[in-house]
This record gives sequence, structure tokens and C-alpha cells, in this order.
Amino acid sequence: MKHLIDPTDLTKQETDEIVALGEDIIAHPEKYQDCLKYHKLATLFYEPSTRTRLSFTSAMMELGGNVLGFSDASNSSVSKGETVADTVRVVENFADIIAMRHPLEGAPLVASTVSGVPIINAGDGAHSHPTQTLTDLLTIKRELGHIDNITIGFCGDLRFGRTVHSLIKALSRYDGIKVVLIAPDELRLPDYIKQDVCEAKGIDYKEVSTLEEVIGELDVLYMTRVQKERFLDEEEFDRVKDSFVLNAEKMKEAKEKMAVLHPLPRVNEIAQDVDSDPRAAYFRQVGNGKYVRMALIYSLLKWKNDPEHDMPDGRPLSFTSNDYRCKNVKCICNHENVTRLFHQTADGTVRCLYCDSKIR
Ligand code: CP
Repeated sequence: MKHLIDPTDLTKQETDEIVALGEDIIAHPEKYQDCLKYHKLATLFYEPSTRTRLSFTSAMMELGGNVLGFSDASNSSVSKGETVADTVRVVENFADIIAMRHPLEGAPLVASTVSGVPIINAGDGAHSHPTQTLTDLLTIKRELGHIDNITIGFCGDLRFGRTVHSLIKALSRYDGIKVVLIAPDELRLPDYIKQDVCEAKGIDYKEVSTLEEVIGELDVLYMTRVQKERFLDEEEFDRVKDSFVLNAEKMKEAKEKMAVLHPLPRVNEIAQDVDSDPRAAYFRQVGNGKYVRMALIYSLLKWKNDPEHDMPDGRPLSFTSNDYRCKNVKCICNHENVTRLFHQTADGTVRCLYCDSKIR
């Protein structure tokens, strides 16, 4: 059975198939309108969401299925202390597939270890957001006509931006990708993404500290919000919150065909005077999110009993150890009674399996 916890749980071919299916659904929605009749999706959202939860809901409805779940864990038995694993063991009795968002990193991975139905990670802390990645890939494909051979700038909060981490991982499997990282020192991309993804996969990347110096080189500009909820220190947040703002003046220096993406919600990092620019693709991106989630739900249910679409061999082999401890206070392993698991990367670094934090 296939779960989607990390973008690389899908092979490159499966990723491309889902993007292509999303395009087919857009072109021929009538073909898919009843294909999941009598199927149910559970949306377990332990953290706020507008786009992801509603697009999952809308996607399942458009496929002819039904949706149940919660958008606020305080209304569920989680408030009585029920663990993620127990909640999933319960909900799998009521639904054919589960989408989970959780503030603790690794929570959907824990869910996948006990679930008899496919688990979709709808965002875990600052770690990963693979369905946003599928949305972004479909958007790039529709805006530019191709995903290979692009220069993409990531701007803003690259440290806590789970959408950035997931998209860089996914793009590392395409040809001719150049990445430009535009962030203040406090919000730079975590070293594990730079080392294990950019350097390990030979992605051409550079780090700069102003948008102005690179905007003219970009085919895609991926803007992000500085996420107050991820900071442990409010003073640090105040120092960086207004770091990068895209406005109509800066857009004058961009390529005629550059696409501006943003996972949304935005605060002030894209001025409203950019919204009417034809290159502003972020609201079209939201619409693509529904179609690609339709393609994903349909595919995961179709593949459920097909060994050819099992979890990929490329998943890190994990091991337990009493010598190591994950220090990430937002990792599920420091909140719930889960087996402490680690994995070792090619350069010998030991990381927590749940959140990828460096242990040694
Ligand atoms: N892009 C995204 O994840 O938005 P929501 O937080 O509203 O789901």
C-alpha cells in the first residue's frame, strides 16, 4: 500500500502520472465525477488550514465520494489524550483514505505505521507538505509548459517553510533545475536539505540576500510567508518578519513569462499591486490544488492492492538506538510514546526518522 508522507514516497514516474492525471481531470471532469462513489476520505486536521482541507474536501466530493473528519482536534478525543496512532486505528474503520495535518513533525509517518488505509501527509510542522508540492508541480507545468530546465527562486522563510523543503526534494529529480535561495541569515534553508538534496543530487544552487539581484534570472519565483507559529523566540520573528516583499515595481525587472507562486496564506510578502499581473499564478495555484488532490486520492486508492505501487525502496532504512536522542521539541517522538527511529545518510550523518533533525 502506498502512503504519501514525503514527496519521494512517489517515484518520479508516479509523480508525473499524478500531474498528468490532474491535467486530464481539468480537461475532462465528467470522466471522473462518480469514480469514487461510496468511498470516504477522513480529514484529520490538528492545525489550521483553509486551502488544503477544503481542497481535499472539494476533491473527494467531485470524485463522487464523501468526507468526514475534524478541523479542530480540540473537538475530538485528542483533547482527552488519545494518541495519533490510536486515533488512526479508530478512523480507519470509518474511511478508505486519511489526510492528516499535524503541528508535530513525523505525526503522519507514525500514522502510516499503524494504518490499514493510505495516509496522506497534509503538512507536518515545518517538515514536509507533499500535496502542496504536487500542486506546485502541476502549476509550474501549466504556467510554463514544462518542469525540467527551470531556474526557481525561493524567497522568504526557507528555514520553516515545509512547502519549500518538499518542492526542492521533488524538483531534484527533474533535469536542469537551478535553485536560487533568497532569505535573511535567520531563515536560510536547513543544512540537511542543502547537503542531502541539493548537493547529493547535484542541483545547481546559490544563496543570495536580496530579491532585486536575481529576479531577472528566474522562471519561477516561489514566495513564502514568515511563519510566526514556527518561531520559539518572538524577538527573532519581529526581526525578520518584513524581510522580503514583492511589489509591482520589482516585477518590472522579472522575465515576461516568470510565474509567481505562493502556497498561501500571504501576509504582506506580496503586495496587492502584484495580483493583477498576469504572472501572478498563486490563485490559479490554489485551483490546481483541488485537481491534483483528486488525482492523488484516485491514484492511491487504485494502487492500494498493487505491489508495483508499494512504498519505494529509496525510503531510508531505519534503526533504533539507546545512544541517540532527537532534540527537536516539535518532533512527535518527544511527545508521544513512539519507537525512537533513526536513519543514516550517505555521508554518515544520523538523523531522526520522523523529523530529519541531525542527531550526530
Ligand atoms: N498552502 C496551504 O497549506 O494552505 P493552508 O494552510 O490554508 O492549508
